Amino acid sequence: MATISSLTARKILNSRGEWTLSVELGDEHGIRVSGSAPEGESKGTFEAEYVKPEHAVEQVQSVVAPTLKGMDGVDQLAVDRKLVELEVGANVSIAVSRVCARLGAESRRMPLWKHISEIYQTKPAAPRLFINVLEGGMHAHNNLVFQEYLAIPKANTIARSVEIGRRVYKALRDELKADVGDEGGLVANFKDALEPLGLLGREADIDLGMDAAANNVDLPPAELFALYRQMKLFYLEDPFKENDFENFKKLKEEMGEKSIIAGDDLTTTNITRMQKAKEEDAINGVIIKPDQIGTLTQAIEAVSQAREWGWAVVVSHRGGETNDDFVADLAWAVAADGLKLGGLARGERIAKYNRLLAIEENEA
Ligand code: PGA
Ligand code: ZN
Repeated sequence: MATISSLTARKILNSRGEWTLSVELGDEHGIRVSGSAPEGESKGTFEAEYVKPEHAVEQVQSVVAPTLKGMDGVDQLAVDRKLVELEVGANVSIAVSRVCARLGAESRRMPLWKHISEIYQTKPAAPRLFINVLEGGMHAHNNLVFQEYLAIPKANTIARSVEIGRRVYKALRDELKADVGDEGGLVANFKDALEPLGLLGREADIDLGMDAAANNVDLPPAELFALYRQMKLFYLEDPFKENDFENFKKLKEEMGEKSIIAGDDLTTTNITRMQKAKEEDAINGVIIKPDQIGTLTQAIEAVSQAREWGWAVVVSHRGGETNDDFVADLAWAVAADGLKLGGLARGERIAKYNRLLAIEENEA
């Protein structure tokens, strides 16, 4: 039992120097935990809506705090149900939902991932790392139209995966003399969208992935098909626009045996959208971003549904982040098939990689 006795909110800066919501939750035994809301740059239309940071602070103070006070913070499902009922901004509900899970874990004196896996009866394990090594699209001012080129180490521990990722990332950084982009991936110009994959393809111990984030790509589907055929990717996210179920389906039919074709803007961690993707047989993998839907419980429901359908589950951070490392614990708790945490640079990305290393070394 962790009776919620205080909930306060304020604005803090995120990795883009923009304001975001930070909340602190306390219980009657003096436990204090804090957490914050991430924010996407290339958001899908069907994501749950954020409210402005000032308004978010106000909603926490005047709507959420009075309702949650006296509730048991260990009872994540009850808290999340309340958050849904209150119809607050998604940044408000996800910040509070996440911090509630932290309070529950602290109160039960167990690691956050373990607490989550016990509440939802998931089987925990190390996720595979989907490391963003090269950035383009809306995340960088260069000539790459696709948003993320991912190196996916072939290794079964975090330590080994990070070691492979480090080597690949560092070699490219030296070779390209590249800057670091929004998510810690490298930013350089290339002769075309295929050239980065040529560079990464030299590495034997990684699989190749890409988040096309095609909502922001203005190429006709036929041209996209032609590119994807040449890419031979292990993982391909948002290859077409967020309502183009038809082309998703065609691509999945063609490549789904060998590759994960995943929805992000297509599905937005929303079961109704996922249902539609299932009916259309559009994907065999799905991105899980808890802030797209608003609470931890809803995100886990999306994970369970995806698993039931045999889809790969890829947990993800957002373009705008803080040092809150919650997604690392979440991905571990549900044994995500993949975890996107950006490149191996920038404190807000590194915080999460380091959290995974700590889980593997000390807690699992
Ligand atoms: P976002 O992008 O967090 O900026 O929306 C990440 C992604 O598309 O996966
Ligand atoms: Zn995406």
